[in-house]
Amino acid sequence: MTSDTTSIDQQAKDILQGNDRGTFTVPTHGLYPFQWNWDSMFTAWGIATWDLERAWVEAETLLASQWDCGMVPHIIFHEGTADYFPGPDVWGAGGTPPTSGITQPPVAATMMRSLYNQDKAFGRARMEAGFDKLAAWHRWFMETRAENGMIAIIHPWESGRDNALDWDKAMAGVEVTEMFEYKRRDTSHVDADMRPKQGEYDRYLTMVAHGRKHGWSDESAKTAPFRVADPGMTFILLRACRDLLALAEEFARDTTEIEGWITILEGGVRNHWNPEGFYDSVTLSDGSFAGALSNASVLCWYAGIENAQMLDHLRKILDNVTYGVPSLDPRNPGFEPLRYWRGPVWAMQNALIGIGLDDMGHTDLGTRLRENTRDLLSTHGFNEYFSPVDGTPAGGATFSWTAAVWLTWAGPNAKGGF
Ligand code: GLC
Repeated sequence: MTSDTTSIDQQAKDILQGNDRGTFTVPTHGLYPFQWNWDSMFTAWGIATWDLERAWVEAETLLASQWDCGMVPHIIFHEGTADYFPGPDVWGAGGTPPTSGITQPPVAATMMRSLYNQDKAFGRARMEAGFDKLAAWHRWFMETRAENGMIAIIHPWESGRDNALDWDKAMAGVEVTEMFEYKRRDTSHVDADMRPKQGEYDRYLTMVAHGRKHGWSDESAKTAPFRVADPGMTFILLRACRDLLALAEEFARDTTEIEGWITILEGGVRNHWNPEGFYDSVTLSDGSFAGALSNASVLCWYAGIENAQMLDHLRKILDNVTYGVPSLDPRNPGFEPLRYWRGPVWAMQNALIGIGLDDMGHTDLGTRLRENTRDLLSTHGFNEYFSPVDGTPAGGATFSWTAAVWLTWAGPNAKGGF
């Protein structure tokens, strides 16, 4: 047993080292050849289990591409862009290196605080420097994206849950007025059945065209063709603000502004409550709920929010599948076990859910989820995502955040510093 799990630990480490490009890591070679915002922070967390210095570099490389307005982009195109679509020319966002024009879930403050807590003397100066950048990013969210305390996304890719059912209504409202000539790259790497459909891709590009036409200004986000308040974003930012607040207290910084953000976001959480009895996305064009109980809905504990109905949902969902947490409730007619974000399990999302459950004292469920994830990864490997029904591995193989989560949270020797 010991030697088995030790060799799985080694495989996970090999994956992270294989995806290391010196000062940043790629999610997996081929399908995702650049630095992705939240992937990179999970990876830093994983690398910290054996090389804290390199882990800090990962975070610093990401924050070095922060825009003047405070936004931290979702992709940093570090090198060799020819084989990726949509690449920097399509985004038209500029930057050295070039970046995309949208953001991704802000797990950075939480992950960087974990690095810092693992060795305060080592990380103090780096955490203090990072603090200001993280505060600027959170401020940008609060000033440009908070809608009744909920965080709005202007592209499904900002949520990190690219193809979720949550976006269907808002996607249907996006009018495709341009003919886009392009060759997708994703479907040459993985099975088209597991990826978004063509009509969806044209809409994704329409949203990018809107941002590009308006120079990716914050004002243009208000008139974006797609605007949805995402509980995943709201919960993750709320958690990140709590971590930032703890750091502010430790560094004797002013805490008033951050406390204000927390109060606003806590109000936003209440607005995500669908009266049908779960946290849901809100389509901002008409204020309607999306009707999606997802693996983002169960991030409430991660955000420090208690909710008995959600606990009940989570138990029922876990009882319904072999491997949890599915990205969509299997009781939803839109559930598809292998289609992107409409059913499959993501290990890194499980880690956030599990950390939240443990933090809030639901250690029975936290342990259940961790052991279930351990079983999944040790049996089915380190893919991008998996079927909740039978664990079939899908998407890209040798995936960084999946390997990172084994070393930090899911594996028997995990040491993630939370
Ligand atoms: C997909 C995922 C997103 C992730 C990216 C790289 O776009 O939906 O969450 O960051 O792949 O792994």
